[in-house]
Amino acid sequence: MKRQQLFFIIISLSIGLFGCNEKNTKILEPSAEEISQIKPIGDKISKELVTTLQKELKAAVQKGGLDEAINVCNMKAVPLTTIIANATDRVVNIKRTSYKYRNPDNAPNEAEKKALDHFKTLIKEQREIPPFYIQKIVNGKETHYNYYKPMKVKAVCLNCHGSDNKINPETLREIKKLYPGDKAVGYKEGDFRGLIRISIE
Ligand code: HEC
Repeated sequence: MKRQQLFFIIISLSIGLFGCNEKNTKILEPSAEEISQIKPIGDKISKELVTTLQKELKAAVQKGGLDEAINVCNMKAVPLTTIIANATDRVVNIKRTSYKYRNPDNAPNEAEKKALDHFKTLIKEQREIPPFYIQKIVNGKETHYNYYKPMKVKAVCLNCHGSDNKINPETLREIKKLYPGDKAVGYKEGDFRGLIRISIE
C-alpha cells in the first residue's frame, strides 16, 4: 500500500470516529435564564407556524380536491424565512417530528427522540402536557437550544391522518403513492401527533 493511500485511510477513519458524531453531543437542562431567552422566540415562531398551516389547510379542505391540497401540510408551503425574521435575528432551523411520521425526512434524531419520550411518558401517566419543552445541546464548543411545541390531532387532520375509512380513497391513493412507507395514519382526534422542533443558535 502506498503511503498516500494509508494516509487517506487514517484520515477517513479519524473523521468517522471523531467527526460530527451524535455520541459527542450532550443534551442538558437549560437554566432559568436560558429558558427566559429561548421561550419567547419559540412561542412566537410556533404560534405563527401553526396558525399559517391551519389557515392553509382549512382553505384547501373547504375548496375540496384534497389530493391537490396534500402539499399544504408541508413546511415548504409556509413562509418560514419571514416568520423567523419577525421573531428573532438568531439562526433558527425548524422541523416537525414524530415516531409515526409520513415523510422519512421527519424521523426523529437522538435529541428529538428524547423530547418525544418526555411527552409520551407524561401522556402515559395521564399527566398534564406542558405547552413547550427546551433542551440545551452542547457539541464541543457549539451550543444551541431545541424548543419543542407539542401538536394534537384535530378533526380536520383526520382527512389525511385518520384511519383509512376516514380518508377519501383518492387522497389515500395519492398519499400512498407519494409516501410508500407512511406511518402517519390511524390517528384519532385529540391524539398526540408529534412535535414542532425549533433549533435556536
Ligand atoms: C390534505 C392532507 C393533510 C391534512 C388535512 C393534514 N396533513 Fe399533515 N401531512 C400531510 C402530508 C402529505 C405530510 C407529509 C409532508 C412532508 O412531506 O413533509 C404531512 C405531514 C405532517 C407532519 C410532519 C410529520 C410527518 O408525519 O411527516 C405533521 C406533524 C402533520 N402532518 C400534522 C398534521 C396536523 C396536526 C394536521 C391537522 C391540523 C394535519 N397534519 C393535516 C397531509 C395532511
